[in-house]
Amino acid sequence: MCGIIGCVGREDETLDVLVHGLSKLEYRGYDSAGVALSGDRVDVCKKSGKIEDLKGALEPRSIGGAAGIGHTRWSTHGPPTDANAHPHLDCSGDVAVVHNGIIENYQSLRDELVSAGHTFKSDTDTEVVPHLVEDALVDGADNEAAVREAISRLEGSYAVAVVVSGDDTIYAARNDSPLVLGIDESEARSPSEDSSGRSPRESNDERGPAYYLASDVPAFRDFTDRVVYLADGEFATLSADGWRVSDVDGNTVDKDVDTVDWDPEETGKSGYDHFMLKEINEQPRAIRQCLRGRVDEMAAQVDIGDLGDLAPTGVQFVACGTSYHAALYGAQLLRSAGIPAQAFLASEYATSPPPIGDALVVGVTQSGETADTLSALREARKRGARTLAVTNTVGSTAARECDHALYIRAGPEIGVAASKTFASQLAALNLFTLGTTRVDGKRDIIGALRDLPSNIQAILDESRAEAVAETYVDSGAYFFIGRGLQYPVALEGALKMKEITYKHAEGFAAGELKHGPLALVTEDTPVFAVVTGDGEMARKTIGNVKEVEARDAPVVAVTDGQSDVERYADHVLEVPETRPQAAAVLANVQLQLVSYYVADELGRSIDKPRNLAKSVTVE
Ligand code: F6R
Repeated sequence: MCGIIGCVGREDETLDVLVHGLSKLEYRGYDSAGVALSGDRVDVCKKSGKIEDLKGALEPRSIGGAAGIGHTRWSTHGPPTDANAHPHLDCSGDVAVVHNGIIENYQSLRDELVSAGHTFKSDTDTEVVPHLVEDALVDGADNEAAVREAISRLEGSYAVAVVVSGDDTIYAARNDSPLVLGIDESEARSPSEDSSGRSPRESNDERGPAYYLASDVPAFRDFTDRVVYLADGEFATLSADGWRVSDVDGNTVDKDVDTVDWDPEETGKSGYDHFMLKEINEQPRAIRQCLRGRVDEMAAQVDIGDLGDLAPTGVQFVACGTSYHAALYGAQLLRSAGIPAQAFLASEYATSPPPIGDALVVGVTQSGETADTLSALREARKRGARTLAVTNTVGSTAARECDHALYIRAGPEIGVAASKTFASQLAALNLFTLGTTRVDGKRDIIGALRDLPSNIQAILDESRAEAVAETYVDSGAYFFIGRGLQYPVALEGALKMKEITYKHAEGFAAGELKHGPLALVTEDTPVFAVVTGDGEMARKTIGNVKEVEARDAPVVAVTDGQSDVERYADHVLEVPETRPQAAAVLANVQLQLVSYYVADELGRSIDKPRNLAKSVTVE
């Protein structure tokens, strides 16, 4: 989704910091980018395409100013063109605005402004904002009052940042779209390199404070670790003199300044070709972080703090995409502990809401900002439910709006396709089940979770996924089957394959294959069968494997070797023997690697697949 960066305080660094921030936001997905700096006048440069295109457009020009805002756009209204790129200006060119979200009443505002004589240059909903500010300025309001007046007219979701000529202040507001301030009041900091190799901070002896604004912390994390999360309805002003957050009536709101605990290094590729491969390889560490201080194998106990007292009698999960697959897995864990539990696609939840009773509603969302999931959680709250966010993002909207939060602690995930966050979601959902129910075999499950990092590492060290990918890179389609806890893994295997290879892939409950999809199975459609354990489920899935084998489809078995599925497979991807809860995490690692290597063979844009965004903040 779109990304916002803003900075104020150190004039000679403003442009470099903005460009650096935009490149850090690239992972959110974008189709155009731009910056605006306010000095005596407002200078804007914007361009469709990559950040490199924007840099090219900036090079011949000298643009500067004490306060600056920047934006990466992912189109919602109007195609990706230079004109539709942010920032947008008013008629006089004195007001520049960047915006994330969707202004639902933009058409009526635009009609009103056009009849009052305003001319528009873009197809975007955002462009109404600078014109509304302009009107308020013409009516005599000061800059802050004019921005507030404009914001008060907006309906929908927005994170908005505004600069006005002759004013080195950034004005910002949020509703339903994330916005975070960065505070750097330190005198001396180690320099950090900008994308051109220079440090935005080089050779500054006398440096005053600098303040940042962004839709996501990585945009300014190289400069400061001190952050202030804005809540819906809040308004912020940032200038060289300091920062202030206020409510809709203008009253100052006391905000906590938090410290983010991850390192800027964690958003670099550390020698891997792609963030996704790096993040797949980070899974042992991610799981360790998720478990740290929360499991006691000797006592067969899990400590998830106050959450341990939740004692749910029923659970409804709401989630999207990969997180929905984690939710399907979580629901099975809870059902096996005797707790009625169901997983719902968040985007469908409100259209036919299930009776809530005294169920706990759990939003699984790595970003904590997915609009569909937030609106399902809000629907549940409206109907009286207690809510829990299982998320990777401290301070995210889901974490703040839910009654409780369980953090999966995966660290920042830059690749658009979720990888390590899925593994950490599965681990966290185990902790939740172990910590709140009387599930049987706690000690064994805790042991299997504890072994996950080394077992994942063994797969990473020895996987034959690359050879399998090379063999089937030209196949027409890919199918994935699994039962029980391996069913969500089959769905996730197919989603990953679709997202990063752009090839047709489908995941099925193994038993469903014969009810229709079998018609698609040919010698050109490899079937990945996830078969772990040696029980009834494995036996039945092997029956399904024989069905596809009889249709000449190549079979890739992902297995721990406990069953004899190898006999029917063309290739085997091994996983260490463990409990079923952990086997799902391990099998998924093999499937992640296959998708990654197929995508790499095909030369796809793995970290930023076409048409996708990291955080989907519109419904
Ligand atoms: C898939 C992927 C998406 C997200 C989905 C929900 O690789 O990344 O399907 O899982 O958009 O995102 P979160 O978990 O942030 O709510």
